[in-house]
Amino acid sequence: MTDPQDAIDAATDDRADRDERIQAHAAGDVQDGIPFVGAGPGDPGLLTVTGRELVEDADLVVHAGSLVNSELLDAYCADAEQVSSIGKDLEELVPLMRDAYEDGRDVVRLHSGDPAIYGAALEQMDALEHEGVPTYIVPGVTSAFAASATLRTQLTLNGVANHVAFTRPQGKTLDAEDDHISEFVEMGDVTTCLYLGTHAVAETMDRLLDDGHDPDTPVAVVYHASWPDEDVIEGTIETIGDRVEAAGYRASALVVIGDAARKAGYERSYLYDGWANRDGSESEADD
Ligand SMILES: C[S@@+](CC[C@H](N)C(=O)[O-])C[C@H]1O[C@@H](n2cnc3c(N)ncnc32)[C@H](O)[C@@H]1O
Repeated sequence: MTDPQDAIDAATDDRADRDERIQAHAAGDVQDGIPFVGAGPGDPGLLTVTGRELVEDADLVVHAGSLVNSELLDAYCADAEQVSSIGKDLEELVPLMRDAYEDGRDVVRLHSGDPAIYGAALEQMDALEHEGVPTYIVPGVTSAFAASATLRTQLTLNGVANHVAFTRPQGKTLDAEDDHISEFVEMGDVTTCLYLGTHAVAETMDRLLDDGHDPDTPVAVVYHASWPDEDVIEGTIETIGDRVEAAGYRASALVVIGDAARKAGYERSYLYDGWANRDGSESEADD
């Protein structure tokens, strides 16, 4: 197979010409090729209808290992060949999916949550397309949305949170200068959702304290949102690190920083106030 980086570079060049499939298909359409399906956060019921139908028809499901609930695999594709992508590089994954597809098998690539968030889906798609295998995305419920449902809050909340940041803390694969958590928290009206940061909650909070942020800023940590062992730990920038360490969670949690996590102090929205009593003109509104 072609070197994956060469495939990415070639795809970047090719994208100067518009991909006709962008106009021809809407998100949710079943298309030719290998679908990259968002499995959702864990509960099999949170897989989309289209995702479920594709998985049920699949001969080969390449999934994200322990990030995908085995209950979902058992419920919807027990008869398919199931392969975990954990520990496999592109050089192994791409030929596996390509060969199965070329043999006429129905192949599904199942990512946790939504493939567009920290999923590294595009590099697999570009490598497959370079090998002549079409691909497309079927969206899923990202874990931040499952966490906000668990917390019974909104990530945007009138008067409290006008913006949402999906981000991750510095570490082996993110340099310190590319860690922007402190800047998001500084903005004040942002709900900051940390992926890939369960093992580093205490260090992350220590950095926020060092940067002078209010120690009482609310933080909620939702472990395994929508799984049977889901757990919620609530606290503040000052207290949450110790609480997460005491619980022993090192992975699979979503950290929500900001006043929306406490869902207090918000104001009624214009939608069900001034907007509801508008004089008839149609325009875009919050829902
Ligand atoms: C490799 S990223 C994949 C994210 C995924 N694509 C999504 O949209 O949710 C893995 C991180 O997502 C978060 N995550 C995934 N599933 C989760 C769940 N059920 N509950 C809480 N966080 C979850 C954790 O922060 C974990 O470290």
